Amino acid sequence: MSKEFDLAALLAERGTERYELHSRYLNHQLPRMLHTIGFDKVYERAEGAHFWDADGADHLDMLAGFGVMGLGRHHPVVRKALHDVLDASLADLTRFDCQPLPGLLAERLLAHSPHLDRVFFGNSGTEAVETALKFARYATGKPRILYCSHAFHGLTTGSLSVNGEKGFKDGFAPLLPDTAIELGDLDALDRELRKGDVAAFVVEPIQGKGVHEAPPGFLRAAQELLHARGALLIADEVQTGLGRTGDFYAYQHEEGVEPDLVCVAKALSGGYVPVGATLGKDWIFKKVYSSMDRVLVHSASFGSNAQAMAAGLAVLSVMENEGIVAHVRRVGELLFSKLRELVPRYELLHEVRGRGLMIGIEFGRPSSLGLRSRWTMLQAARKGLFAQMVVVPLLQRHRILTQVSGDHLEVIKLIPPLIVDEADVNRFVTAFTAVMDDAHAGGGLMWDFGKTLVKQAVAQR
Ligand SMILES: Cc1ncc(COP(=O)(O)O)c(C=O)c1O
Repeated sequence: MSKEFDLAALLAERGTERYELHSRYLNHQLPRMLHTIGFDKVYERAEGAHFWDADGADHLDMLAGFGVMGLGRHHPVVRKALHDVLDASLADLTRFDCQPLPGLLAERLLAHSPHLDRVFFGNSGTEAVETALKFARYATGKPRILYCSHAFHGLTTGSLSVNGEKGFKDGFAPLLPDTAIELGDLDALDRELRKGDVAAFVVEPIQGKGVHEAPPGFLRAAQELLHARGALLIADEVQTGLGRTGDFYAYQHEEGVEPDLVCVAKALSGGYVPVGATLGKDWIFKKVYSSMDRVLVHSASFGSNAQAMAAGLAVLSVMENEGIVAHVRRVGELLFSKLRELVPRYELLHEVRGRGLMIGIEFGRPSSLGLRSRWTMLQAARKGLFAQMVVVPLLQRHRILTQVSGDHLEVIKLIPPLIVDEADVNRFVTAFTAVMDDAHAGGGLMWDFGKTLVKQAVAQR
């Protein structure tokens, strides 16, 4: 007789094979990379903004699973909602009825952007963007989408077409006939719009790559230019939405910005159930779904599933009850001011930027001779190695997980769970200060590791 499936027993029996299994059956470069930088750890348990390794040592998460863990891991309210929705044995996904949870989540979500009327639910950030691109084309009857250099909107073919980094696109052509402009360049936007074939401009109010903010007034002015030419503004809030930047949506930082379509995903999932949402104006949805024949013209088999909807409703409820947006402003300001104070102290530290709990720390060329020669050696091998040299001891010595904010960038990005507290902020700042002290002392382990990175970068050429 075959044994009944037992998840706990399976993990107990084979959990230790995790790296081997990954190397054999999945993307083999991930374990290879983790091993190279000494990140090949075994984490056993997680809660809130912390996770614990096999020895019981606690780690501070400043990455939030690329932003999906907005409320941290295993928030009790979200977790209960998921247990409850399973226990309810709903007649979900019959596809020929209307379930209550999608309507309730749409209603609650739309309350945060009163100028928008309808929602399409998919399963990821890239799908939320794909939906916006399709809806914009259909609604305007025009083919071309404008996007920003260095933009990141996902990696499926449509979203890839509006990706601003060559490295992601190479070898995947032909893509859609879209056009990049610089974030903030209104003249370029106007020039492209005058060609008369533009459906929309898609933009992250704060770019994830490098943490670059749209200049003050840009989104509002872009919106005016777009609307004058019958084109739409799409705000990609997949990373910046749901409180991340100290407003519910980052576009709300400035008066008068009312995007025609808004893309949401990541944190709406509660970190549990993949979900994407494209919010838009009534007339756009009415055009796309213009007749009964077209009822399924844009749809997704798992879209609006009960687990995702329950998680989303629980997330929005926690955000309100726990005053998450106000908390982000407070804690973000604290972290920001403490980091800014360090800039004049360290010559390798050039800038701290961002809003709320989306913070970029940029390193740059030092002024003193000894450090400059080391810096130049790293830059000659590959840009971004110094930032990597900071990320590695932050994890290895201080048990804090961060990331380099994009290829070839000397920027690290902090996007912790939004529930981090003052103790977490102090822990990060103390650790970061120690790493900066080490880097500026010139010798030692950190620069030795830099030499290892240089050798690898050269070997990979
Ligand atoms: C701004 C932005 N848009 C879209 C995406 C794609 O989301 P997903 O990975 O869920 O497809 C991301 C992911 O990092 C993102 O940051």
